Amino acid sequence: MIKIVICGAFGRMGTTIGGIVNKEQDMELVGGVDIKEGSFFGVPVVPSEGLTDFLASVKPDVMIDFTVAAATVRNVPIASEAGCAIILGTTGLTRTERKGIDEAIIQANVPAVISSNYSIGMNIFWTLIRDAARKLGDYDIELTEAHHRYKKDAPSGTAKTILQILQEEVGPKEEVYGREGMQERGSEIGVHVIRGGDIVGDHSVMFANNYETVTLSHRAYDRAVFAEGAIRATRWIVHKKPGIYGMKDVLNLA
Ligand SMILES: NC(=O)c1ccc[n+]([C@@H]2O[C@H](COP(=O)([O-])OP(=O)(O)OC[C@H]3O[C@@H](n4cnc5c(N)ncnc54)[C@H](O)[C@@H]3O)[C@@H](O)[C@H]2O)c1
Repeated sequence: MIKIVICGAFGRMGTTIGGIVNKEQDMELVGGVDIKEGSFFGVPVVPSEGLTDFLASVKPDVMIDFTVAAATVRNVPIASEAGCAIILGTTGLTRTERKGIDEAIIQANVPAVISSNYSIGMNIFWTLIRDAARKLGDYDIELTEAHHRYKKDAPSGTAKTILQILQEEVGPKEEVYGREGMQERGSEIGVHVIRGGDIVGDHSVMFANNYETVTLSHRAYDRAVFAEGAIRATRWIVHKKPGIYGMKDVLNLA
């Protein structure tokens, strides 16, 4: 039985993941962490100030974190130190914050999966974008992403991963975030962010040249797609040696 604690238990992702864990035969939801005390799916949710003691009492194998960067930088080192494997989905971490998280995981000698997007389709999408960028690198490139009105970080972590792939293949290129006024297009990568309604997650990359465009796009219809991916990563990580892995390792796409 894989014992699991979910950090961000009352959030959109935490609740979705909790509901799935609760139904899996080989998993046991032993608790949640959030800013307020309470319960979900019949198990206690403790405020993050009590995380150390809570982990010592319920002894989970894995902590799944979908919260906000400010919480992740505090909670993931504590869970790593307690010997939990980590599944980290929170986005919006600065480079320095991410470095601190990596160091804490390595120092604690635990295994972790960190991914800006746990959907299987998106992980395949990233490989398609890499391939397209290799072949269409001299085309104008425009990246667009859309998410629900509550999403705070922009561009999305997924869009940042796409930018990283594009930069690796065709960069270094300037990134221009939105356009206004008089300006000529150069060789930049254009980045455009839309926030509204309950959009779960849309990403598209357009490669444009005279007389043609090639557009690759991915649409998530339900956040269960990220939750299912995180569950798959959870099952995978418990058998792994300490280290930091990505979804491409989980899916054997490396
Ligand atoms: N990697 C992926 O596949 C993926 C998919 C979807 C969302 N996300 C990311 O996951 C994160 C959460 O997304 P969401 O839509 O569930 O957000 P949300 O706002 O619905 O949920 C976040 C939860 O974290 C809680 N929280 C805040 N501070 C905390 C603390 N100190 N300790 C514990 N919990 C705390 C909040 O109270 C809230 O319940 C975001 O960064 C989002 O971008 C990643």
